[in-house]
Amino acid sequence: MNTRNENVNHSEVDQLGQLVELISVIVADDSLHGRWLNSLSFLENSGARKISAAQHPELVTEQILRHTVEESRHAWYLKRQIRKLPSVACPTYEPAYLVAPTATRQYLHKLDTAVSRLVKTELELVGQDLRSACYVLVTYAIEVKADLLYGNYERLLKDHKSEVSVRTILVDEENHLAEMADTVAQQFEDPQWWLEKVCEIEQEIFSNWLTAIQAETQDSRT
Ligand SMILES: [Fe+2]
Ligand SMILES: [Fe+2]
Repeated sequence: MNTRNENVNHSEVDQLGQLVELISVIVADDSLHGRWLNSLSFLENSGARKISAAQHPELVTEQILRHTVEESRHAWYLKRQIRKLPSVACPTYEPAYLVAPTATRQYLHKLDTAVSRLVKTELELVGQDLRSACYVLVTYAIEVKADLLYGNYERLLKDHKSEVSVRTILVDEENHLAEMADTVAQQFEDPQWWLEKVCEIEQEIFSNWLTAIQAETQDSRT
């Protein structure tokens, strides 16, 4: 099935431009770059914890287990990349070691809440059924963004001849995206409507996150 990457609208183009500009500023500043890596690590770890929390007590597939492990590994891998930046240390996820800590902490929570509200309204699901449906939809939206973010980040790291690399994560995220698109197609009536709807929701929340990071980078340069 088609993924939304083939169907890009104007606000997505604007957001991509904003993202690329922001990452260019970030990779040029080691201290900021360390906190950016740590923030991505925080999001990957939060994702892994959310996948675990959404698991059905019995209906856990090999794919779900692998996905949980891979998101945890991404969190660890990103944390390890910080070592490649001289004199930078981000030992924990405390606010001082994150970029735009409030917006970073709110991103997944807001996305979960908004998608959960939509699923409740449209499908009247509750309990485990609601958790499982939200897992698939939220993960799909995140994977679309992860693909875009890590792809551009890796390209900019190469342009800056940085020691940091996210290439191995990108390969995993591409697989996750294809798996989630298939799962939505199998489990939802009118999958295209759901794919577009959750990406629309994610787009707005991600935009708030970018704006918060941008404000912080501007503050640090004035
Ligand atoms: Fe990941
Ligand atoms: Fe992923």
